[in-house]
Amino acid sequence: MDLGLSGRRAVVTGGSKGLGAAIAQELVGEGAAVAICARSETELAATAARLRAGGGQVFAQVADVTRPDEVERFIATSAQRMGGIDILVNNAGRAQPGGFATLTDADWQADLDVKLFSQIRCSRAALGHLRASGGGAIININAVYGRQPDPAFFATTVARAACLAFTKALAMEVARDGILVNSVNIGFVRTPQWHNIHQRRAPELPEEAFLATLAAAEVPLGRFGEPEEVAGLVAFLASRRASYITGASIDVAGGMGRYV
Ligand SMILES: NC(=O)c1ccc[n+]([C@@H]2O[C@H](COP(=O)([O-])OP(=O)(O)OC[C@H]3O[C@@H](n4cnc5c(N)ncnc54)[C@H](OP(=O)(O)O)[C@@H]3O)[C@@H](O)[C@H]2O)c1
Repeated sequence: MDLGLSGRRAVVTGGSKGLGAAIAQELVGEGAAVAICARSETELAATAARLRAGGGQVFAQVADVTRPDEVERFIATSAQRMGGIDILVNNAGRAQPGGFATLTDADWQADLDVKLFSQIRCSRAALGHLRASGGGAIININAVYGRQPDPAFFATTVARAACLAFTKALAMEVARDGILVNSVNIGFVRTPQWHNIHQRRAPELPEEAFLATLAAAEVPLGRFGEPEEVAGLVAFLASRRASYITGASIDVAGGMGRYV
């Protein structure tokens, strides 16, 4: 299936590793120009070099999506370097395990900043560019926990529910501009973020055994997903083949999510 992404211009936040790097790789493979950001310069530069090695047109800039000035600079420079923006993938984020009793105001604020406010600010900065290019797509990477509350991931549950509401309301507001806004909700996908969770929670267990135990308990397919299994859907949603899909909330979660 030709997705028609050749020559399109995409911004992927948190594109240095994990899901963001896989999404950037998929979009570059489809012929799109891609701009990525992250906080760690070393990892960002290594990923950009890897993407360019395959012939991709890649712009990389250090930016923290919780800092409004850095968001504006990254989006503006990306548009300038690529000649516009057609696609925004709001992917940057982090895991915040923990129950209500453990969360301070600072934890709540930090989680809302990196999850909700990053999507708000990046979308606000990019919308003018999407409109200028005659329409486009915003894809927000969220979590199944936004639809199925889990008190063990309390802050994530609340922040991601807000992200889902943001996605739906924005989809309705910008539909007449030809801009599609959708959410991709992740369950358990093997990325560096899970490496960190393993180190924190059960360093005495081999990582494979830790992940396998979690998957057996929570995931109907019985395994963690791989980043590439998310990237294909994101590329599809970014393409004109998805031209009548907006305001949708699609799980990539191996069957997790006890709702209809
Ligand atoms: N993997 C899962 O199972 C899972 C489940 C549910 C939701 N998600 C969501 O999916 C997204 C990607 O997760 P992942 O598993 O790929 O995580 P990851 O492996 O930790 O990668 C996160 C990426 O985001 C960047 N990032 C983090 N904070 C940032 C900030 N403040 N500003 C700019 N970039 C930032 C990281 O680079 P730096 O650290 O260098 O900034 C990295 O490139 C996140 O929003 C996460 O919450 C993932």
